[in-house]
Amino acid sequence: TQSTTVYRASILHFLDDPDKAGEDAYEFFEDGALVVENGKVITTGNFSELEKTLAENVEQVDYRGHLLMPGMIDTHIHFPQVEVIASYGEQLLDWLNNYTFPAERQFEDKEYASKIANFFLDELLKCGTTTALVFGTVHKQSVEAFFEASEKRNTRMICGKVMMNRNAPDFLCDDVESSYTDSRELIERWHANGRQLYAVTPRFAITSTPEQLEKAGQLLEEYPGVYMQTHISENKDEVAFVQELFPQAKDYLDVYDQYKLLGERSVFAHGIHLTPREHQRFRETGSSVSFCPTSNLFLGSGLLDIAELEKEQVAYSVATDVGGGTSFSMLQTLNEAYKVCQLRGNKLSPLKSLYLATLGNARTLKLDDKIGSFKAGNEADFIVIDFNATPLMALKQSKCKTLAEKLFAMIVLGDDRTVKATYVAGQALHLRDSGGN
Ligand code: GUN
Ligand code: FE
Repeated sequence: TQSTTVYRASILHFLDDPDKAGEDAYEFFEDGALVVENGKVITTGNFSELEKTLAENVEQVDYRGHLLMPGMIDTHIHFPQVEVIASYGEQLLDWLNNYTFPAERQFEDKEYASKIANFFLDELLKCGTTTALVFGTVHKQSVEAFFEASEKRNTRMICGKVMMNRNAPDFLCDDVESSYTDSRELIERWHANGRQLYAVTPRFAITSTPEQLEKAGQLLEEYPGVYMQTHISENKDEVAFVQELFPQAKDYLDVYDQYKLLGERSVFAHGIHLTPREHQRFRETGSSVSFCPTSNLFLGSGLLDIAELEKEQVAYSVATDVGGGTSFSMLQTLNEAYKVCQLRGNKLSPLKSLYLATLGNARTLKLDDKIGSFKAGNEADFIVIDFNATPLMALKQSKCKTLAEKLFAMIVLGDDRTVKATYVAGQALHLRDSGGN
């Protein structure tokens, strides 16, 4: 039996990058409809036109006065760092040693890992994020716990076991062989099983020996279609330490390049302090940078220049990087991205921001044939935005004239309170209490 539901609301989704395609980059239906059947998008358009094409008894859900858009995507976040968020006073390397490594130790305990994985996914859904590229810890069971929690919700998630075998406390180190076999077992068990996908996850060049990075490359070769996620050029002390550990490498990216970790499914968090040669290798290999504004500000790492990435044709996406990042909300993240751009002399328009958080991020993850827009056949992951979620937001909205103005104010003032509902594969997984702030 087919179950069809029509959601009536204002609808916004993207077909392309607004900086490239202008007005043709998006569809906006003031009185729109999204037709969903068995967890998939059938079509979207003007309500009055679509209404005629539908059977009379079709279930209708009325979200008039709200904005329906694709679920947001976060391309870099650490689920075991939920409790590390808002830890005072350090930059990257000390922050890792003093706060992050001790917190990650607890994920040895599968029960604890499950508790946090469930909390984490509920928090993402509350914020309107339906897909994320996620770090686990070094412990295989952390990723088991995560995928079990995601499978229960039917969310499309990408996760991987951290590979790290040096320059970290013993309790957080694996070894070359176990990092390989644990990753392999997780791939066999989870990758492309339902909506779960795997990412080979060497933490960063500092915490892996050359032998371990080689194993990471071997995994990518043995399992085409799996992702690769790591960190790069976030902090100047980090970059210097990598040069010391790999004196023969041309630069930081060259370390990963030598072990065949670059490619279209390779996502490098931060990339703030890259050289022109590194940009060229990003471009040539189709690798992407993940821009993490709240984290880069919080850890004092620096201001990423996305205009330079655009000029160099380096693919990039936007991400929270919780627990270095300070919010689970992609709206808050876009708000901070706008400010980073201001300090860099760049502009980040509201349409470009929302494109990035949806279709743009889906494209860098090679998932735009499944999520990120309301293209027919896509998975029905979507959110309902309340422009008037708080008195201040309502006041500001009443003064906005254009769609762009409304979207911009929604992004800057928005957070989890702005997300009225989150649907995953056609199922409502989060419904905000009405009237709650
Ligand atoms: N570099 C290596 N590990 C980490 C991490 O956990 N967070 C951030 N922000 N950078 C890293
Ligand atoms: Fe990170």
